Amino acid sequence: GITRHYKFDIELKNVTRLCHTRSIVTVNGQFPGPRIVAREGDRVVVKVINHVKDNITIHWHGIRQLQSGWADGPAYVTQCPIQTGQAYVYNFTITGQRGTLFWHAHISWLRATVYGPIIILPKHNVPYPFVKPHKEIPIIFGEWFNTDPEAIIKQALQTGGGPNVSDAYTINGLPGPLYNCSAKDTFRLKVKPGKTYLLRFINAALNDELFFSIANHTLTVVDADAVYVKPFNTTTLLITPGQTTNVLLHTKPYNPNANFLMAARPYVTGQGTFDNSTTAGILEYEYPSDVTQNIKKLPLFKPKLPTLNDTSFATNFTKRFRSLASLQFPANVPKTVTRRFFFTVGLGTNPCPKNHTCQGPNGSMFAASVNNVSFALPTTALLQAHFLRQSYKVYTADFPYEPTLPFNYTGNPPTNTNVSNGTKLVVLPFNASVELVMQDTSILGAESHPLHLHGFNFFVVGMGFGNYNPSKDAAKFNLLDPVERNTIGVPAGGWVAIRFQADNPGVWFMHCHLEIHTSWGLKMAWAVLDGDLPNQKLPPPPSDLPKC
Ligand code: C2O
Repeated sequence: GITRHYKFDIELKNVTRLCHTRSIVTVNGQFPGPRIVAREGDRVVVKVINHVKDNITIHWHGIRQLQSGWADGPAYVTQCPIQTGQAYVYNFTITGQRGTLFWHAHISWLRATVYGPIIILPKHNVPYPFVKPHKEIPIIFGEWFNTDPEAIIKQALQTGGGPNVSDAYTINGLPGPLYNCSAKDTFRLKVKPGKTYLLRFINAALNDELFFSIANHTLTVVDADAVYVKPFNTTTLLITPGQTTNVLLHTKPYNPNANFLMAARPYVTGQGTFDNSTTAGILEYEYPSDVTQNIKKLPLFKPKLPTLNDTSFATNFTKRFRSLASLQFPANVPKTVTRRFFFTVGLGTNPCPKNHTCQGPNGSMFAASVNNVSFALPTTALLQAHFLRQSYKVYTADFPYEPTLPFNYTGNPPTNTNVSNGTKLVVLPFNASVELVMQDTSILGAESHPLHLHGFNFFVVGMGFGNYNPSKDAAKFNLLDPVERNTIGVPAGGWVAIRFQADNPGVWFMHCHLEIHTSWGLKMAWAVLDGDLPNQKLPPPPSDLPKC
């Protein structure tokens, strides 16, 4: 591979959407941010220079970061933030991945505006395992806030209540024609008839899983989270925050209906406030000029989308993803397990501090937890403490392997909804074969949680509703062609089972990619020890690693 250099200047930029102008944090003044394009095997070097008053870090979401944990980016996990006037060079090699990923700020809620696509092409002269597309187009979903998202999360955490929701969903930064004062900010996908396009979808929204559809068109899914999958056709996609999906769009031969609406709106399972609005763009056929005259004025065709809480669509769709599991692209599912975990994921509460009014459930403060531990980020970086063997100053290695208080997770919620708080990690020996079952709890309502693991891809070997039953469910795990990804929705009122090989030394974050749940503590981290061989060790930190 070659080395590709990028420079990311973190700077403010005035951006107007929905007739509201805000000075937002951007990379190089672009919103959404610039694309990173590389081939499998390339080295990517990004110099990030912080010119704004907020601290920042950038995460390369889904990049395996094999032996390059210092470049992963989550604040206080692998690094201290880059402060005003400072710079940090992220340096990593793309190994064994091809497809679409994305980069985003990984501190507080700055990823609301600081995000952009990562396009990973196959190695030179290696074709796609599907028809060569005429063109490739990244389509990145996001959210637009008329007010500052940093103020929104700050206030939510202070009052313990739910945060204000965004004012629009966006497609490539544009809310589209269904919002007030937004028609001119519409994404237009111009296509020619009778061709194949590769659409690279990314959900960079903060807090919502999204359904997406293009009127009168079928999409062929070919890749998820930068791993090829067995192709399948669908009219609707579901993409959780943190997931990416590549699809082929076959445009129609000559068609008198020249324009079609594409639209996305949320899949919502939990309680509380959410934005029930729809972002739209236009699929625009380009015809020779003699036919364009007649078709320009025809009405737009609108897509049908599942209802807001259509969990059966969501689950059926999620289950259709399968690894290619071919000779060229094998599914290296761990067949035996050396470490087994059962984590509950869900919402809960913290008691309201004395002399305080809280806006969470019954006057408490909202919290979220994994195995009843609401994770508290330290004020220095976990990875540094791990590397310097000073973990005792920063975290404890006693994250529970299973819930300390088991209960019927999908039955009546327990009366005590309080979580415990701490900075606890699981420590894994190098190359442990991990099986992890994540069970959604209905303590404050059953809710789908898109769980994201840093540093690894995992195989989704099982998924179901109700309480996970080890004696019955484990026997049905798919170890042949389970999908390999980095983010999976734990179904509302159900569970998901994943396996991964802990072959990457370092400290790796795992969290719900709904930003509000991460803020409330639905996160934890794994420390993977070095192996014996030189290429099984975490190298020392780069000299410009920021200090706290
Ligand atoms: Cu895309 Cu830890 O995040």
